[in-house]
Formats: sequence, structure tokens, C-alpha cells
Amino acid sequence: MTGSNFTTFIFLHILLVLILASESKSQSFSTDDIICQPQQRLALLHFKQEFTISNDVYNDMECKMQFGSASSFYPKITTWNASTDCCTWDGVTCDRFSGDVIGLDLGCSKLQGTIHSNSTLFHIPHLRSLNLAFNDFGYSQLPPEIGRFASTLTHLNLSSSLFSGYLPLEISHLSKLVSLDLASNHFDSIHPQFLSKLFRNVTHLRELSLRYVTISSTLPSNLSSSLTSLDLSSTDLHGELPDDIFNLLKLQKLDLSSNALTGSLSEVNRKGDSILVYSNITGLQRLEHLDLSYNLFEGAIPSWFSLLTSSKEIRLQSNMLSGVIPPGLFNLSSLEVLDLSENKLEGTIPSVFKLPLMQELMLNDNQLVGQLELLDEDRIPRSFLQLVNISYLALANNYFSGVWRLDMLLSSHTNLQGLDLSYSGLSVVTTNCNHYVNPEFYVLKLASCNLTSFPEFLRSAEKLSNLDLSHNNILGELPSWTRETWIESLSTLDLSYNFITGLHRIPWKFLMELNLRSNMIDEPFPLSICKMNFIQILDLSNNNLKGTIPNCFGHFKEGLAMVDLGNNAFHGTFPRISGCERLGELNLNKNQLHGKLPRSLAKCYALEVLDVGNNQFDDEFPHWLATLPKLQVLVLRSNSFHGSITRSRGTDFQFSKLRILDLSQNKFSGTLPSMYFSNLEAMMTVSEEESEEKYSKSPMGYNIYYHTVVVMKGRSYDLVRILTTFTTIDLSDNIFEGSIPDIIGSLKSLKVLNLSHNSLTGHIPYALGSLSIIESLDLSWNQLVGEIPQQLTALTFLAVLNLSQNHLAGRVPQERQFNTFDRNSYLGNLELCGFPLPRKCKNNHETEQNSVQTEGDHDTESGFTWNVVVLGYGCGTLLGLVMGYLMLSTGRPKWFNAIADAAEHMVNTRKKKEKICIKWEISI
Ligand SMILES: *[C@@H]1O[C@H](CO)[C@@H](O)[C@H](O)[C@H]1NC(C)=O
Ligand SMILES: *[C@@H]1O[C@H](CO)[C@@H](O)[C@H](O)[C@H]1NC(C)=O
Ligand SMILES: *[C@@H]1O[C@H](CO)[C@@H](O)[C@H](O)[C@H]1NC(C)=O
Ligand SMILES: *[C@@H]1O[C@H](CO)[C@@H](O)[C@H](O)[C@H]1NC(C)=O
Ligand SMILES: *[C@@H]1O[C@H](CO)[C@@H](O)[C@H](O)[C@H]1NC(C)=O
Ligand SMILES: *[C@@H]1O[C@H](CO)[C@@H](O)[C@H](O)[C@H]1NC(C)=O
Ligand SMILES: *[C@@H]1O[C@H](CO)[C@@H](O)[C@H](O)[C@H]1NC(C)=O
Repeated sequence: MTGSNFTTFIFLHILLVLILASESKSQSFSTDDIICQPQQRLALLHFKQEFTISNDVYNDMECKMQFGSASSFYPKITTWNASTDCCTWDGVTCDRFSGDVIGLDLGCSKLQGTIHSNSTLFHIPHLRSLNLAFNDFGYSQLPPEIGRFASTLTHLNLSSSLFSGYLPLEISHLSKLVSLDLASNHFDSIHPQFLSKLFRNVTHLRELSLRYVTISSTLPSNLSSSLTSLDLSSTDLHGELPDDIFNLLKLQKLDLSSNALTGSLSEVNRKGDSILVYSNITGLQRLEHLDLSYNLFEGAIPSWFSLLTSSKEIRLQSNMLSGVIPPGLFNLSSLEVLDLSENKLEGTIPSVFKLPLMQELMLNDNQLVGQLELLDEDRIPRSFLQLVNISYLALANNYFSGVWRLDMLLSSHTNLQGLDLSYSGLSVVTTNCNHYVNPEFYVLKLASCNLTSFPEFLRSAEKLSNLDLSHNNILGELPSWTRETWIESLSTLDLSYNFITGLHRIPWKFLMELNLRSNMIDEPFPLSICKMNFIQILDLSNNNLKGTIPNCFGHFKEGLAMVDLGNNAFHGTFPRISGCERLGELNLNKNQLHGKLPRSLAKCYALEVLDVGNNQFDDEFPHWLATLPKLQVLVLRSNSFHGSITRSRGTDFQFSKLRILDLSQNKFSGTLPSMYFSNLEAMMTVSEEESEEKYSKSPMGYNIYYHTVVVMKGRSYDLVRILTTFTTIDLSDNIFEGSIPDIIGSLKSLKVLNLSHNSLTGHIPYALGSLSIIESLDLSWNQLVGEIPQQLTALTFLAVLNLSQNHLAGRVPQERQFNTFDRNSYLGNLELCGFPLPRKCKNNHETEQNSVQTEGDHDTESGFTWNVVVLGYGCGTLLGLVMGYLMLSTGRPKWFNAIADAAEHMVNTRKKKEKICIKWEISI
């Protein structure tokens, strides 16, 4: 290379470097050179001053879920620094050319404070996108100044930001809006016209979410046709769907769940009279997400659902849909989630093999039938084994049949994380030779599936949190691997109604619900329960647990809501109780506990059920329980309680919610406590309303029902659920004396009254004739005198009457129910006369001498009179009482169904309005 050539080379090289350098410099200018407008920078800095950084745990949890980790969201305004360009600040977007601030994204930014109407936020003139979601604006009001962004704002997101009060109508001035999210705030109910105004003015709106904002009106029919996503879940909407709802051609997501929408879905989309011409089906074809769950829709699932050809998710859970599942629904091959649970669907499941993408299939709680097999006999693949992507499958509470091989299901469905076959009718077998299961598997519910052994594959389910194997035939000890495997994961364990013999140690630290009811556990109280800091439901009843209840147990964790230790062999005293603020039930029935009731129970303010019956407690009547405002059930039966229960001075005796009071088989003395009766307000009114929740259950939001034991006609019934309308007073087998106070007649909702085996004197009060729905009245074995008051013939629900072994005299009343009682009701009252007794009354020539022969079928063992069922005047719960009673005393004999059907028919035809046949779930 020559010198000049070399010089030229160097020169060119330098030139090139210079050109490149200058080019890169000009490039960097074009991105970084936007300088934020000084006024807007100042406005933002002022805005920053209006807030502090919050430590709201709830928002943090929500944000963590959205962003995946705690480190990816942070208080962005802390990076806002007066000495830097505001266009570089976190959460701030500027226009490339003008430098105007056009976007503020402060979602999940831990802001805490109030946006006042003088806020400098409103001095940012060109704002197009504002996201303040998941901050804490302290229940302040959104200022109407938001309307200042009318000509610019396209995206507004204020979800979950703790705004409250009046939602400014100025929002509807934001005519450029494309996306509006006001979800999960505490705004006052929105005026129904707000939506119409919004849709009229904001014509390009594509996304709208008002989730959890109260609207309280019908859904307006003029929804904007530009909508692609509409979320009006939990907004208190009612009325029927507008006919043109699926006319929105661009709609991809529609969520109207958790409202009170009514009507038949097949009426929607119908044009004119012809059922299969739909007004505009093209609107359905784009819809990907449809959620109409938790409403009041009824009728069949219309066949137009098969036109939802793009749909990925269809949720119709918890409505009143009936009829069969249209087969077309199971041809929607893009479907990933289908939830038809908690309806009244009948018939069989259409073939599932055309749903290759299905991930979550919920058909539980319907009336579906049919044989479901995992393997097809003819080897045509159309069984559940074809759902290769399934992650959650729920078929519980139906009437299917078939036997499923659990190991086959789990090893072929490698995505499965949850399986609920409880009460589906399916039997489940496990060979326990395959241990494969998806490591993410977390819920298994196989209640009443004929399971005979503990499924071994669960050994690899290290994240299992919810296990229900109740009502099976599992025999033996709990496998030892269960202890370490789930030590941190398990939160609900239900093994009730099996033949489990031993636990040894139950170390699951995060357990919230433990149900071991009705097994054969023959061990001392598991001490590790004292270490379960999150336990809420504890049911160890009907086992052979023995020894004392350890003192540590009395230190209830604050969350403990239900404790049932009944029917075991615990002895000793019950420990002092603390931390029981949420305890709704304490059941110690049938043990050998002695001593006094712990006085600290008076501080368990949430207590609704206290059952200490059938022990050896030796105490006075617990007046001090009167401080418990919610107590509904008090059972002290068969102990050594003693003394008078008349009101002691200075006691604030309320018991106003009490509806089951059982003090029988003790040594209570003195007169009947009429002062107390006058406080039993819950027993004084007959509730007419048919409430959905018929059984007393824990307010903790679980399907946990309170238990107690009641005794009727000498037999004890273990009420696994307590009817909220069941009211009874049993003071039998004590040493009460004096007369029956008239005030008892005011306890109008009483169904069972038993004062037998005392030393009561005087007349039967006429006032008992006002116990208008009483079904069982037992005053036997006292010293009552006088006539049976004619007023008692008004008791048309009375199924069981026992006045025997008193000194009653005169004529037995002859009307209505009294025609159905046999002479056992009156035995031992030598002065009584007339039907059904053999003794004729004087001046009455109609009474037959030989009435004994007219007695019909008579179950001598239980003393129950069949005539009651057939002749009873009552409707109401008479049948419930009698049916429950029969099922127990005789174990559902053949003729039971026939009689029950006849009686039910009779009662149903008499009073359509009332739902009559209230079934008791009773176990023996
Ligand atoms: C702002 O930035 C300057 C220079 O980078 C720095 O010295 C100062 O500490 C920052 N101020 C705040 C409040 O972060
Ligand atoms: C803005 O208004 C609030 C409440 O009305 C008031 O407390 C605050 O001082 C005002 N701020 C300015 C800068 O005027
Ligand atoms: C609003 O912001 C929240 C939180 O980031 C987000 O979950 C939600 O999807 C946003 N809404 C819209 C309509 O984008
Ligand atoms: C529509 O928006 C404009 C401002 O953009 C406003 O003046 C007008 O009142 C709005 N109309 C309704 C019905 O809200
Ligand atoms: C809704 O649309 C109908 C016609 O489709 C029209 O007659 C009615 O005035 C509209 N209502 C509102 C509130 O815009
Ligand atoms: C459905 O809507 C489209 C677009 O608005 C329209 O062109 C078509 O005529 C409608 N079809 C029926 C049957 O109404
Ligand atoms: C469970 O087993 C019993 C007897 O072993 C049988 O009668 C019953 O039909 C089985 N139940 C189911 C759901 O298969």
C-alpha cells in the first residue's frame, strides 16, 4: 500500500466513522429529544404531592396476581423527579412530536389520597389514556372535572380504586372513549339513564366494565353496536334480556353474571312467531365469552347456542334451566370452558368427543342420567378419555351410572387438576398400581363413589388442597405418607362416613376444615389440632375418641366456627374457652364430660348451637348464656343440671332467638319458667316466607350445617341438618311442679312440646289451642286435672298427642285430628270417656262401646298411628315430621313410598302455594 493510498484510506475511514457517529446521534435525537412541556411537568409534580404511598394488602394481592410477581408493580410516582424530563418518568407517555403528556398509567401504583376537583391532573390538556386502577382513593368522590378530557380521552380505567359516592354524569361527555372500566368501586347506584346517555354520546365505545357497580334497573335495549366487550356482572340488573342483545355484531365478550335477570333464553333472539328464525344470528358468531351464570333464567337451553361457533367460554351456572342439553352445544369445537352446573338439566350428556380443546367442564348439580364409561365398548372414541386437555371436570350430584377407573383417567389426562364426582352415581375403583398424577392436582372430591381404599396416586399430588372422600367404604388407618405429603398444602379434608380406624398425627398446618364424622377412630384427642392456626370447621363426632379434651383446645383460634365432638368417649371436664368470637356451634353430645359448663362460653357471642346433652355435667341452669344474642339451640338433656330455672334477679335474660330448648332428664325443679317463655321471640312468630336456606348453617360461607340431637316420642334423632323452622321445647323428666302457664300458648311456631314426666298440676290451659302449627304435644305422666279443652281441636297439624297418666276427666273431643288418636293417647285417665276409649260418656248415646276394633294399623312398637298420614288435616311440615320420623323408626320399609306418595299428593293438591314435603336429612 502506497503512502497516499494509505492517507486516503485513513481519511475515508475517519469520514465513515464521522458519518456513522453523526447518524447515530441524529437517531438518538429523534427518540429522546421530546422534552415535556414545563407546565405539564409541574402539573404532574403537583399531582404527585397529592398522594402518599399505601400499604393496602388487598390491592397488593390482586396486583400480584395480575402482574405475576410483587416486584413487577411499584409506586411509579416515586421515580418522578423535578430534575429529569417528565417524558422519561415511569407511567408517563408523551406525544412523539408535541411532547404533550398523552398517557398516564398508574395502575397498581399504591397511590393513597384524594383527587380533588382542583387537582392538577385536570390541567393536562391532551390526556388520551388514564389508568388509576387498583389504588386507594379512600372512598372519595370522582370529581366532575373528569369531563374536561371530553375531546381527548379514549381509555379510562378506574377499576378497584376505592371511589365512592355519585358517579359524575360528565363521564358520558367523554365522547371519544373506546374503553371504560369503572369496576369494583363503591359508587352510589347509577341512574338507569346513565347507560342510555353513555351509549348515545360515546359512540365508539368498545370495552365497558361496570362490574360490582350497582345499576339496579333493566338492561337498556339500545346498547352500543360498537361494543366488543361488555361486563355488567354483579350490577343488580333485573328483568328480561332485550331481544336484540345478541344483535351486537362485534361483541366478543358478554358477562351478565350474578344479577337477577329472568325469563327464558329461548325467547331471546326470536323474530316474530317462528321459533327457528333468529333476528340476526351473525351476532352470535363472534362471541367468544358468554357468562350468564348466577341469574334466574329458566326454560331450556335454546338450540341457537349451537351457533356460538367462536365461543371459548360459556357459563350458565346456577340458573333454573331445564330440559335436555342441546347436542349442538357439544359440537362447538373451540369451546374451552363449559359450565352448566347448578341447574335442572335432564337427560343424557351428548357425546363429548367433538370438544378437543375442552379444559373445564362443569355439569354438576343437575338431574342428568345415563351410563358414563371411560372405555367405549365398540372402541369408537367418544368417551371422557377423549378430553385430553381437560383440567377440571365436575359431574357431581347427578344420576349417572358406570364404573370409572381412576388410575386410567389420571394417567391419560395429564392436565387434570381437579375432579369432582361426588354423588354423581358413578362408582370409582382404583387399583393403586399407578401413581401418576399431574403435579398441579389440587382438588379431588369422590364422596359416595363406592371407594374401598385410600387412593395411592394422591401420594404424588403434593399440592392437594381439597380432599373429600366422605361416604365411602374406606377401611383402616390413614396412610402415613399423607402426613408429610400435604403438610403445607391441605386446607379441606372430609373423610366422614367411612371406616377409618386411626389417624395418629394430623400435622397439616394450613387445614381449615377437618371432617372425620362417623368413623371408627379409637384414639385420644389428636393434640396436633391445637396447632392448626387456621382451623374453622372441626367435626370429630361419632367416633371412639377417648381420654380428656386437652386444655390447649380451649384456646380456640379466632376463626374457629364449628366444633362437633359429639358421640365419643371423652371424659373429664371441658377446658376453659378463649378466642371463640366466631364459634357458631359447640356440640359435645354423648360423652362422659362432667363438672360445670365453662362460664367463658358466655363470651362466644356468635354461638348459635350449644349441645351438651347426654353427659354428666353437674351445674345450675346456665342463666349466663342469656347474653348470647344468636343462640338458637340449647340442649342440656340428660345431665345432672339442677335447681330452679326461674329468673334470677339482675340477669339479662334474652334467649330471644332460641327455637330448640331441651332440658329434659335433669333435676330441674320449681315452677315452669313463664318469665323466660315470654322472651322466646323466635318461637312466637310463624314465618310465612319460603326461604331458600332451609337449614341452619355456618355463616362462614361454607356448606356446613349445624347438627344436633332431638328426641321425639322416646327416640333420639341425629339431625345432620337443622331445619330453620323446627321449634321445640322439651322439659320432660324433671321435677317441675305447679301449673302450665298460659304464656306457652303464645309460642306460636312451636312444633313439639314435651312437658311429660314432671309433677305439673292444674288444668290444661285453653291457650294451648293457639299453638297453631304444633305437631307433637306430650303432657303425659303429670297430675293434670279437668277436661281436655275443646280448643285443642283447633290444632290441625297435631300428629302425636299424649295426655296419658294424668287425672283428666270428661269427654274426649271428637273433632278433626282428635278422630285420629287412639286410646294410647289417653291411657291412665280413669275419668275420661268417649271415642276412642271404651268408657261411654253419660248423655251420649252415639259413642260406640267397641271402638277398640276401629283402630287401624297401629305400629305398637313406636306408637305411631298410620291414620295420621292419611287422615291428617294438616299440610305444612306435618308430612316432613312424619316422614322423617318414619324413615328413622323403621328404616324406610316398602310401604313407605306408597304412603308418602299418597300423602304428598294429598297435601300438594290441597295447598299448591306452600312447598310441603320438607325432607329431613337424618342419619341413625
Ligand atoms: C433527582 O435526580 C437527581 C439527579 O439524578 C438526583 O440527584 C436526586 O437525588 C433525585 N431526586 C430524587 C427525589 O430522587
Ligand atoms: C384543593 O381542594 C382541597 C379540598 O377542597 C383543599 O384542601 C386544597 O387545599 C386545595 N388545593 C389547592 C392547591 O388549592
Ligand atoms: C384496568 O386495569 C386493571 C388493572 O390493571 C386491569 O385488570 C383491567 O383489565 C383494566 N381494564 C381494561 C378495560 O383494560
Ligand atoms: C355529549 O357530550 C357532549 C360533550 O362532548 C356534551 O356537551 C353533551 O351534553 C353530551 N350529551 C349527553 C347526552 O350526555
Ligand atoms: C332505542 O332504539 C329504538 C329503535 O331501535 C328507538 O326507537 C329508541 O328511541 C331508542 N331509545 C333510546 C333511549 O335511545
Ligand atoms: C343482520 O345484520 C346485518 C348487519 O347489520 C344485516 O346486513 C343483515 O341484514 C341482518 N340480518 C337479519 C336477518 O336481520
Ligand atoms: C356400590 O356398591 C354397592 C354394593 O357393593 C352396589 O349395590 C351399588 O350399586 C354401588 N353403587 C354404585 C354407584 O355403583
